Amino acid sequence: MNARVSAPAGARVFRLDAAGVTYAMGVDERGYLQPLHWGLALAADDPLIARAAAELSGFDPAGSITAQEFPGQGEGLVAEPGVKAAFADGNRDLVLKYRAHRVEDDALLVELADIDRPVSVTLRYVMDAGTGVLGRSATVANEGIEPVRLDRLAAAVLTLPVGDDYCLHYLSGRHAAEWTRHTAPVGPALTLLESRRGSTGHGNQPWFAVGRDGLTSEEHGPVWYGALAWSGSFRIGVARDNLGRVRVSAGYNPHDFAWTLKPAEVLETPVLWAGYSGGGWGGASRDFHRFQAARILPGGAAARLRPVLYNSWEATAFDVTLDGQVALAEKAARIGAERFVLDDGWFGERHGDRAALGDWTVNRAKFPDGLAPLIARVRALGMDFGLWVEPEMVNPDSDLYRAHPDWVLHHPGRPRTEGRNQLVLNLARDDVRDHLLAVLDALVRDHDLAFLKWDYNRNWTEAGWPDAAAEDRQRVHVAYVRNLYHILSELRRRHPALEMEACSGGGGRVDLGILAWSDQVWPSDNTDPFDRLAIQDGFTRAYSPQVMMAWVTDSPNWANGRRTPLDYRFLSAMQGGLGIGANLNHWGEAEFAAAARWVAAYKEVRGTVQRGRLYRIDPPLDDAAASATMYVSADGGQAVMFQMLRGSMFRDDPTPHRARGLDAAATYAVRMLGGGLLPDGVPPRASGAWWMARGLRAPLKGDYSGAAFVFDREN
Ligand code: DGJ
Repeated sequence: MNARVSAPAGARVFRLDAAGVTYAMGVDERGYLQPLHWGLALAADDPLIARAAAELSGFDPAGSITAQEFPGQGEGLVAEPGVKAAFADGNRDLVLKYRAHRVEDDALLVELADIDRPVSVTLRYVMDAGTGVLGRSATVANEGIEPVRLDRLAAAVLTLPVGDDYCLHYLSGRHAAEWTRHTAPVGPALTLLESRRGSTGHGNQPWFAVGRDGLTSEEHGPVWYGALAWSGSFRIGVARDNLGRVRVSAGYNPHDFAWTLKPAEVLETPVLWAGYSGGGWGGASRDFHRFQAARILPGGAAARLRPVLYNSWEATAFDVTLDGQVALAEKAARIGAERFVLDDGWFGERHGDRAALGDWTVNRAKFPDGLAPLIARVRALGMDFGLWVEPEMVNPDSDLYRAHPDWVLHHPGRPRTEGRNQLVLNLARDDVRDHLLAVLDALVRDHDLAFLKWDYNRNWTEAGWPDAAAEDRQRVHVAYVRNLYHILSELRRRHPALEMEACSGGGGRVDLGILAWSDQVWPSDNTDPFDRLAIQDGFTRAYSPQVMMAWVTDSPNWANGRRTPLDYRFLSAMQGGLGIGANLNHWGEAEFAAAARWVAAYKEVRGTVQRGRLYRIDPPLDDAAASATMYVSADGGQAVMFQMLRGSMFRDDPTPHRARGLDAAATYAVRMLGGGLLPDGVPPRASGAWWMARGLRAPLKGDYSGAAFVFDREN
């Protein structure tokens, strides 16, 4: 539900208010739309006045230093623009001023127009009633009779109160090492978080969070944050301008972007979702998780909890056969898996990563009667069945490529750079889009699939679209992603029970755009349970644990050779959506018994883990010997605290981990997740206040050990 918008006819000040947050803007005497407030809720009659700026010096004309809600590149602007345009006659000056506003379906629409040329920008604002998270996007319209080339376009520019003590948190990484959190001071140097890769990428996340040094901590102080709902190349810029105002701009990456707007044509940006919390980094991420569940993820509040899945990739790689998969499925069912996923290798002549992407027909040597016998067995074992696909790619060694070599992104006469021996199909082409939709639709229908794992294992190189008109070729950055969303949404519309996982060699395409069609994501190919604690900590800064899959795999781990006990692997993976990816053929009875116990224990608390409120009691930072993470169910009735030890030291820290988020006045009984005795000194029941003031700690010893406490409210 959206918040009420206050923007009466004739008003010069507009505001959106919800959940303790106010966002306001106003038109000054010269017609500029200025940001007036984003943060703590203001009183209804607080003074909000947009005053025209005066020239600061000969170097800073008035227009260029006016904090504009969405500046055009013109009038000497030296900050990041919202939009930059070039007109057919060579003019490149765009000055946007207020023209009109209206409220439509709880959305505030404010129209800006150039002072002279027939170009308008309509800014759209909605605010989520439950969290105060603001959605902003922009639509540029060519109202003239000549084409207008757009060289840059942001979804939004945001302005924070003047200050010199801001710090930026952001997330970056690479394949198998995603989700590292960084902190940087916000100064006059522009910090750019971006992808030039055609998709979101493993590099920078399209997410930011800004706090104030000395004021913002895990549970206290102001945080302004946001994430772009876009799965293509993006750019987020953060800088303090020469008047001390922090400006955040977010939108299409201008690198290689251009869109020539034909007369009467419009271009709409994706949405930047941005929130404010007074509750520190933790409060901000809890609000954003809640917002994602309510407003972004498929199914909304009614979404199913993530089933425990088994995936055969780490066990078998490409070596999949009917008998081999049936053997794994039987073992997965024994430990309580609810979904069986057949990963890469089931189609065409796919015996490694050199061939067959594009040929989505079942390999009859591996599955002589198709997938039906495997699916029937999986279902008889009480699980549903899912399949891996990588639809946007093609190997040059494939029937599809031999038939349609022109279907890939390329520049004629130039090399076609391969990544993992594959090329990228040009989804911007409608014939490619229609082909993929037809193939996937048939695959899902013919096999009645419950789940698709949608992978994407390389980035763009030569991003050419030679059959488009010369002035339209750079539209590929937008048209590709829109067609991808079209396929995903259409598949879900045609198959309402189908669930999907977004994967891109691990976490290379996680963003609020793809999450609108994805029930879950694969955060990283790194499945080492210790590395995963840091990865999961980074991931949940931005995104909900509800979508964060984590597998228990073999030890030593493929990524780093680390050896870890099975219990530790489970306790790490149970902090998101639990999956099993180990080679169960190598397990003995003791492992099956332990795994069955952990899976059953997980099912008792998964609602709390996936949909609850996450508290970082003691984050798993790189040098931390121990860490603790807690999840409290939305109604406060259940909580679970995971305590993890990297390695015992002769100076082991006995400080209790203090609970958070409990109902102070209620009584909570405590027990060990998965069974076992409470450690000495931990009482079986006490008030929420007691657990939060006194805390508790498992006496963990050795290397890579862990435990989890479950709190059940009794009154
Ligand atoms: C990359 C994914 O992240 C893996 O989980 C697996 O599906 C492989 N691709 C298969 O090629």
